[in-house]
Amino acid sequence: MKNKTSIQGSWASRWIFILAATGSAVGLGNIWKFPYITGENGGGAFVLVYLACILLVGIPIMMAEVFIGRRARKNPIDALEDVAEESEGSKSWGLIGLMGMLSGILIFSFYSVVGGWVLHYIKVMLTGEMSGISSDDAGAAFGALLADPSTLLGWHTLFSIMCIAVVAAGINKGIETATRIMMPALFILLIILLGYAMTTGGFAQGWNFMFEFDFSKLTWGAALVALGHSFFTLSLGMGTIMAYGSYMTKDASIGKTVLAIGALDTLVALVAGLAIFPIIFSNGMDPAAGPGLMFISLPVAFGQMPFGQLFGVLFFVLVGVAAWTSAISLLEPTVAFLVERFNLKRITATVGLGIVVWGLGIACLGSFSFMSDVTFFGKNTFDFLDYITANIMLPLGGIFIALFAGWVVKNKFAQEELNMSGVLFSLWNLSMKFTAPIAVAVVLYFLLNPMS
Ligand code: PFF
Repeated sequence: MKNKTSIQGSWASRWIFILAATGSAVGLGNIWKFPYITGENGGGAFVLVYLACILLVGIPIMMAEVFIGRRARKNPIDALEDVAEESEGSKSWGLIGLMGMLSGILIFSFYSVVGGWVLHYIKVMLTGEMSGISSDDAGAAFGALLADPSTLLGWHTLFSIMCIAVVAAGINKGIETATRIMMPALFILLIILLGYAMTTGGFAQGWNFMFEFDFSKLTWGAALVALGHSFFTLSLGMGTIMAYGSYMTKDASIGKTVLAIGALDTLVALVAGLAIFPIIFSNGMDPAAGPGLMFISLPVAFGQMPFGQLFGVLFFVLVGVAAWTSAISLLEPTVAFLVERFNLKRITATVGLGIVVWGLGIACLGSFSFMSDVTFFGKNTFDFLDYITANIMLPLGGIFIALFAGWVVKNKFAQEELNMSGVLFSLWNLSMKFTAPIAVAVVLYFLLNPMS
């Protein structure tokens, strides 16, 4: 492979790559989804299984994505084709990249709608509309937001423009600058909120809820949710990490870098749980409230607490920043592809793609109002897109990436790029050939054929 750098440029340092990839990984999955699925699945034992999934399946697949991207220094489709060709494999492996880009487009369309909800809640917290509100009224307020397409459209449009602007500005001026500002802000906000949670009196209960490993509570279904989520949270299976990896410098060690990203992502999810559950417990609320945990239970809790309004604003700003840095990474693989294959200017490619995803987002936000009777397999557009991407397309992408790295790429190339040998390389190779694909295939099978 002769390319020294991607035509899009490269990250200024190994740390910038770590922070940009962590920005992609840390998102609504960590702060919204992880706490509520932990709540729904009984806490501690679920957390332990989730950690095992990150380490045994997520990290090895992430290493494969980074090495494929960095070896070819191209967008996911071309990278897979080039790496396949080098090992005398079929160019059809590029199709995994195509499916990945499609997943990114579909995820963006509902992700930016939720991003819009978050922006709305920043406003609601700022104006103090929810202080002292009851649970019923908070539930009704969230329901009213979902039923109001014009408000949703405004926020969805603003969130989409924020993402398009960053991606259009390019790797260094756009994504890198955003990363340099937003990631430290995210970590600081999270620590402030953790400190606040510690003062609420519910901290011990929150801690025990997350770290008391009571295996009697663990169900087979919960283990499957943990594996599925480890994929979504690390942004795997859709080429994002491959595209970001193509901008990584050659001297950085892939193994150590990926471990740092996995550790930071996990830390943020755990700290988010430790910030949220004490607030929930100290206000006598239910940790298993599901998706409404963040948009209904938390505003009620903040509305009853000293300085609740201030910390409520900070909390939703934190979620907004996390969602923003993830959403930009959903666009990058396709933008890189359009620029590299069709010689489009970056701004043209980003705005063109942006209009498509924004339009798809309208179908998602309409799922709760004017398009509520449009269903696919009994689900509205929003739920359907969430379901097929997270439960089918990302795991499938993950299986194929693992199989490709394990069976198609010649060991000498993988060893060279990963700069690994001996037992460590054999473990990684074993994971690519067997552990990761089999684990993901089992999840996929049971998600599609629920046992109960
Ligand atoms: N990892 C993000 C989260 O946890 O919210 C979601 C995501 C972003 C998935 C980017 C996939 C992706 F390519």
